[in-house]
Amino acid sequence: MTPKKSSSPKPLVDVDMDRVVQHTTFRVFRYSGTGDPPTYKEYEVPTKRGMTVLDGLLWIKENLDGSLAYRASCRMGVCGSCAMMINGKPRLACQTQILDLNTTVVTVEPLKNYPVIKDLVPELEPLFEKHEAVKPYVMRPGDEQELENPSGEFEQSPEELNEFIQFTYCIKCGICLAACPTVASDPLFLGPQALAQAYRYTVDTRDGAYAERCDLVDSAHGVWRCHYAGACTEACPKGVDPALAIQLLKKKVFQHRVLGKRRKVARVAPKPVGVSRRPNIPEPPARTVAKKE
Ligand code: FES
Repeated sequence: MTPKKSSSPKPLVDVDMDRVVQHTTFRVFRYSGTGDPPTYKEYEVPTKRGMTVLDGLLWIKENLDGSLAYRASCRMGVCGSCAMMINGKPRLACQTQILDLNTTVVTVEPLKNYPVIKDLVPELEPLFEKHEAVKPYVMRPGDEQELENPSGEFEQSPEELNEFIQFTYCIKCGICLAACPTVASDPLFLGPQALAQAYRYTVDTRDGAYAERCDLVDSAHGVWRCHYAGACTEACPKGVDPALAIQLLKKKVFQHRVLGKRRKVARVAPKPVGVSRRPNIPEPPARTVAKKE
């Protein structure tokens, strides 16, 4: 296919032909979203050093086929939008260098284990529903006022923070669910993303809903369905290690259920003596989102 002339004065991906080191065939999954059977379409992408798979898709869209649909936003591995199957593995397209794949054929498909909306765009609703189901926020049963109108900061030591900080790096890209063999066989399984976040809040000392969250994940499609394949951890682009979080969560649920163990809840730190608020510090803005009842 000959590249069409772009009307945009500034191309999204500028490929200087003198610096092209190979021509890569992109085999792209195409699905119209109307129920017609999906097909694969091939595009030739001039590739220079440093080009990512996302750059290749942007170049195709800008120069060869404007009808190609995919998601992307930050182009720097932060937003998680560009997750897709690349040569059979779930990855972030913006973090995958074409030349690192060591091949001249790159097959690009939507994430596995999700319905497909169009082309490379998966329906991520199941991911967000499962995430929401584990109540991924700090709860203080019986002490809601402190969350609504804080009188100070909750006390938490660096050691307590280290217990869960690794699991806060999740960017909700959905890659771990696409890699998980248990999600493939049980679509209702909560999955590595939600379970890792359940663990993250279960061990956060500021949270007081330890028992409630343990009960939430102790179900037929919950924490015990994980067979520790470890595929989620291998695929996670942020080093979150959801498989580790799930095993630690199993231990917490056992301790709660069988040993009746409780966890201490952080208190509000005493106000420092002799310290006053610096002048001219602006007040925080008013809430912009209404509270869910
Ligand atoms: Fe944001 Fe790839 S575009 S993670």
